[in-house]
Amino acid sequence: MTGPNPLAARAAAAFERLYGEAPAGRWAAPGRVNLIGEHTDYNDGFVLPFALPQRTVVAATPVDAPLWTVWSEQAGEQITFDGTDAGKPGQVTGWGGYVAGVVWALLDAGHQVPGARLTVVSDVPPGAGLSSSAALEAAVLTALADLGRIDLPVDDRPALAQRAENVYAGMPCGIMDQAASIRCRAGHALFLDCRSLALEHIPFDAAGAGLAVLVIDSRAPHRHVTGEYAARRAACESAARALGVPALRDVTTDGLPVALARLDDDVVRRRVRHVVTENQRVLETVALLRAGDVPAIGPLMTASHASMRDDFEITVPEVDTAVEAALSAGAYGARMTGGGFGGCVLALVDADRVDAVADAVTAAYADRGFTPPVWFSAAPGAGAAALP
Ligand code: GLA
Repeated sequence: MTGPNPLAARAAAAFERLYGEAPAGRWAAPGRVNLIGEHTDYNDGFVLPFALPQRTVVAATPVDAPLWTVWSEQAGEQITFDGTDAGKPGQVTGWGGYVAGVVWALLDAGHQVPGARLTVVSDVPPGAGLSSSAALEAAVLTALADLGRIDLPVDDRPALAQRAENVYAGMPCGIMDQAASIRCRAGHALFLDCRSLALEHIPFDAAGAGLAVLVIDSRAPHRHVTGEYAARRAACESAARALGVPALRDVTTDGLPVALARLDDDVVRRRVRHVVTENQRVLETVALLRAGDVPAIGPLMTASHASMRDDFEITVPEVDTAVEAALSAGAYGARMTGGGFGGCVLALVDADRVDAVADAVTAAYADRGFTPPVWFSAAPGAGAAALP
């Protein structure tokens, strides 16, 4: 990172104010958007996220006891937990659960985890589907691993952070968000095979192609997200069992008609069709980006949205409206990003049309009486790291 970092300065200033000394170090981890490949991660499939410039910064110093004191600027509160709390999944709830979850996952993997004092400052908007929880997990994990000189290869970190979320915080997410926050590289999207965890950094330079990725926060109130997410995951896993494959990743597009014919529930058939076609769209997107044809990914994004809306049924009127308005205003493609039931929409637009497309979405929202959207344009940022 170059230049002044206001988040890091704020985290350090808060640390000195609360704990009366300078922190031993500062670490940052980003939120993410997913360019394409939704609800494919827990089906052993493919995803293509990139890291946002928005990040969570942790300032921290180790202490000699198994005690963690954590202050969060966004939450406006300080919490404390000890080794007993960290040892019991679910004991610390709310935002602190992601911190305690990382301590739990490290201890559970047999590592010696230093107690610590921490402050957390973030500009990743919470509740917008931009993985603020993964950013917090990744920042805390990176900090504690450094402070404790824990021998934890970067390859193994996403799964550890995912366990914090799955087991400690109780959200049955896949590995995409934690992998994105930990492994992404500036200027690149992360092509991840969620079965083998093989990854490739795919150059993604929308600006160089005269384009921009507009991120529109639908502001839709989250509706039963965890329950609906778990239900989608359960439907996919039961479909894989019914088809006799380890995961839906093993159903190819060529094999899709035969697979669908073997399932008798129409809802389950549509869930399967989404996952299988979405994996294929990720592969086609990667091929187009490798060939340097950024605008051509637009129709794949739009097809992905239709699949999430009609087959996976995870969109809501606010996100559908944002996609339709962006496309009408000339976007090359648009789709919801993230788990669904609200969250953000990505639109691939000409760089000089960012304001026009955002205005069109804002006008469509006003027509329908929705809370006005907020938006920004995003280029791929860096993954988790210590700050100088
Ligand atoms: C959430 C989860 C991810 C992934 C996406 C959908 O962000 O945390 O693991 O399943 O939804 O693609």
